[in-house]
Amino acid sequence: MNDEQRRLNDEGRAIWDQKAAFWDELHGDNGNLFHRTLVSPAVERLLALRPDERVLDVGCGSGVLARRMAELGAQVLAVDFSAALLERALARSQPTGHPITYAQLDATDESALAALGEGQFDALTCTMALMDMPVIAPLYRAACRLLRPGGRMVIATAHPAFNSNNPVRMAEMRDDGGDIITVDSLKISAYLDIPPVKGAGAPGEPTPHTYYHRPLHNLFGEAFVAGLLLDGLEEPAFPKDEAVQVAPLRLYRYWQMPMVLTARLRRV
Ligand SMILES: C[S@@+](CC[C@H](N)C(=O)[O-])C[C@H]1O[C@@H](n2cnc3c(N)ncnc32)[C@H](O)[C@@H]1O
Repeated sequence: MNDEQRRLNDEGRAIWDQKAAFWDELHGDNGNLFHRTLVSPAVERLLALRPDERVLDVGCGSGVLARRMAELGAQVLAVDFSAALLERALARSQPTGHPITYAQLDATDESALAALGEGQFDALTCTMALMDMPVIAPLYRAACRLLRPGGRMVIATAHPAFNSNNPVRMAEMRDDGGDIITVDSLKISAYLDIPPVKGAGAPGEPTPHTYYHRPLHNLFGEAFVAGLLLDGLEEPAFPKDEAVQVAPLRLYRYWQMPMVLTARLRRV
């Protein structure tokens, strides 16, 4: 990491600490609508967790996925760089009775990750957090060492083609053979080269934090260089019948456009 990336990463930690309460309340025990519809089902399918597997959840936030994996019988170590979010995650997890271990760890710190042990995990998860990190190569490299051979890393991130590149949402009206219909579209003006930029996040999120858009060849290319292979991919979108009932310009309206990209990378 260069100095500017380090500064942004430190700033990111302070901002996540500040909005830990908002994030925890937004997601509650099981995640908000976005997570329940777009993130969790695809991640669970790609992960195909078996009981007693050892999983490392990186950027665990308020612990929604960690709790779900523990409920499915996994032994979970969940890490995040925000102490305030870890406190929230722990408080929500204790009443479930599942023994999840939470620890403070910066996912850009390759040696801190690697210190968790060679081949210690059957799976590693990182949901909606890669786009918040200034560098991801250290995490991919560490994943290759932390996973047992054949182990998998499942990621979910804002879709680079339809979401993290900050498209303009459009709604237009036209006469479709006598029916007045709304045509929903996204106007894309950038994809290949978008510098880190602050974004609003979820509606009502108190403090914008920096997002790091990565085109697909970077998002996956850095994983391939680290020694991971892509062997599963899903592009979840909102179900059409629910989306068409949502007001124009709302994110949930775009049933033709996947807002999330989920993928499984494997240590070979
Ligand atoms: C958008 S939240 C997602 C949380 C959770 N994984 C989920 O899917 O709900 C992003 C999380 O990544 C964490 N994060 C961002 N950068 C990080 C870093 N460098 N190291 C560890 N955690 C980080 C934040 O603290 C926050 O909890």
